[in-house]
Amino acid sequence: MSDPKELFDAAMTAMAKAYAPHSDFPVGAAVRAASGAVYSGCNVENASYPEGWCAETSAIAQMILAGDREIVEVAVIAERMDLVPPCGGCRQRIKEFGTEATLIHLCDDTGVVETVTLGELLPRGFGIDGR
Ligand code: THU
Repeated sequence: MSDPKELFDAAMTAMAKAYAPHSDFPVGAAVRAASGAVYSGCNVENASYPEGWCAETSAIAQMILAGDREIVEVAVIAERMDLVPPCGGCRQRIKEFGTEATLIHLCDDTGVVETVTLGELLPRGFGIDGR
């Protein structure tokens, strides 16, 4: 069984850095790679709204930059929502580097409240050659 405390802490710290002046909806995310390393990110909005991106996307970019390629678990937290399930686009981004068993920890400011799998959030997700 995983201990998601480190991931939760990283997601909370990232959420504090969110740049969300347009939605006022700060989000933080953290991913643990197969190597054990933890990468975090926040949402980064833009005055041209569609150009902003999600916290999970930032965390994945950090992971790729560091050379990791496999996501084992994810934690996500939003300041203004009890539990924030990753958006559809981020589910697909997590799928690129995860599996159906990848754990998604939905957090509030006390810690992990609910844990689901990517397979539950993205059943029959698109992948080329079954990947
Ligand atoms: N957001 C995330 O960062 N992750 C999600 O999974 C859901 C939405 C951000 C995008 C935008 O900056 C703000 O939340 C409001 O949609």
